[in-house]
Amino acid sequence: MKDLLEKAQPVVDFIRNNDNFAIVCHYDADGLCAGALLANALDRLGKKYTITPTKQMDSARIADIQSKGEHHLFADFGSGQIPVIEENLKSFAIIDHHATVGETSQPHFNAHLVGLDGAKEISGAGMAYIVAKALSPDNQDLAALAIVGAVGDMQDSSGAFIGFNRKILADAEAAGVITAKKDLRLFGRHSRPLVQFLMYNSDPILPGITADEGGTVRFLNSASIPIRQDDEYVYYVDLSDDLKRRLLSALVVYGKRNFVPDNYLKAMVGEVYELTREKDKSFVKDAKDFSTLLNACGRHEKGEVGIRVAMGDRDVYYGLAEELLRQHRRMLRDGIEYAKSKGVTDTGSSYLLDGGSEIKDTLIGVIAGMLYGAQVIGQDKPIIAFSMDEEGHAKFSGRATWRLVRKGLHLGKAMREAAASVGGEGGGHNIAAGATVPFEKKDEFIKSFNKIVSVQLSA
Ligand code: C5P
Ligand code: C5P
Ligand code: ZN
Repeated sequence: MKDLLEKAQPVVDFIRNNDNFAIVCHYDADGLCAGALLANALDRLGKKYTITPTKQMDSARIADIQSKGEHHLFADFGSGQIPVIEENLKSFAIIDHHATVGETSQPHFNAHLVGLDGAKEISGAGMAYIVAKALSPDNQDLAALAIVGAVGDMQDSSGAFIGFNRKILADAEAAGVITAKKDLRLFGRHSRPLVQFLMYNSDPILPGITADEGGTVRFLNSASIPIRQDDEYVYYVDLSDDLKRRLLSALVVYGKRNFVPDNYLKAMVGEVYELTREKDKSFVKDAKDFSTLLNACGRHEKGEVGIRVAMGDRDVYYGLAEELLRQHRRMLRDGIEYAKSKGVTDTGSSYLLDGGSEIKDTLIGVIAGMLYGAQVIGQDKPIIAFSMDEEGHAKFSGRATWRLVRKGLHLGKAMREAAASVGGEGGGHNIAAGATVPFEKKDEFIKSFNKIVSVQLSA
């Protein structure tokens, strides 16, 4: 850590020697945490600043942020946009963990340039935390935000943090702001009644549970796990250790029956991180819930609400953030209802959902996957769904079941090849993939995709 505190020095000096900053951060959970962390640190120094969360940094956006302050501080992005930043701003510093493109003589604190793996062992918020700690050891309590950011970037996906994130975790524990323990790692441990907890989780998709309220109730009943007690809904954190174990083994049995690979089932259990100072059952108690809340803000163009919550608001902005999360869930539910009523077409080798103008391109993949859970479609074929993105392209998302993957299906490869054949681009995992193609080529793309899939499944 000491070594890195020294490497953060140019950014530290930049902050100490200037005033009137414009913090510009990425709009996902990690970016919002990184921005909020810097904002808290600047507040403690009595510095003036504005803060602007944004989706991407291009010449159009630069014009907007130019006037937001005299000295720009980029958080959780910037390293990949150095040429455009250099061209437009005269005084800036970059704090990031993404790959770098180009060089700058301005302070640039990037994970990869200081020997850290920015994809796996430190997040943008983690980098911002090092800067904050180098500014003052009193900022160690801000390590909680670095944990939320890293969870938001799924850097705990192997079951626990690795590498430098563990040092940040040790700082957070020492400061008394985070506790870590082993538990079921699904969104909503603290913040959702059991039924919602299970039915709104979509990774992995569990047919008859995901997006299926009746099915989830039946599943819980058959495992003899109470849904209500004394007229109150039961939350996961209310369960005794015994009931928690029973729920986990029932989920594992259910997952196995649906061909979910063992490593995914194992990964359901791992380290969970709780913010010790937050209220039980709030959306900010568990790091995963917290990051989901922030993502909901960013995704619905309300990043500034997320910033306030990350900075500590538990009042008006917290309420707004909760409302955005509810809105997000409503949009998922409406999307599923739309698919049910408008119908999904069976195109032979796959199911097809035309999201039209009803389903946002950013939600279409999640909704497509949930259709298996809700048993709107059978498990015998993959589903592809599309809607028009902001640029007028057809944005396709493909989802499948583990049963199909076992038979040889690889959606990522199929999407990549089919997209390439019509001048688009695509790729992804075996079970989840996406592609963007010219809108007028969508039918051709679907034909090509179906052909590739039928070959994969007959091999
Ligand atoms: O790779 P990426 O994280 O962008 O994947 C996007 C989506 O694909 C995830 O939100 C998840 O729902 C889905 N996915 C999945 N199973 C995997 C990997 C991804 O369902 N093994
Ligand atoms: O967009 P969607 O959530 O459906 O994407 C699922 C997965 O496919 C993600 O992991 C994403 O990174 C990948 N993908 C890709 N190339 C694209 C679109 C999506 O590799 N053009
Ligand atoms: Zn990040």
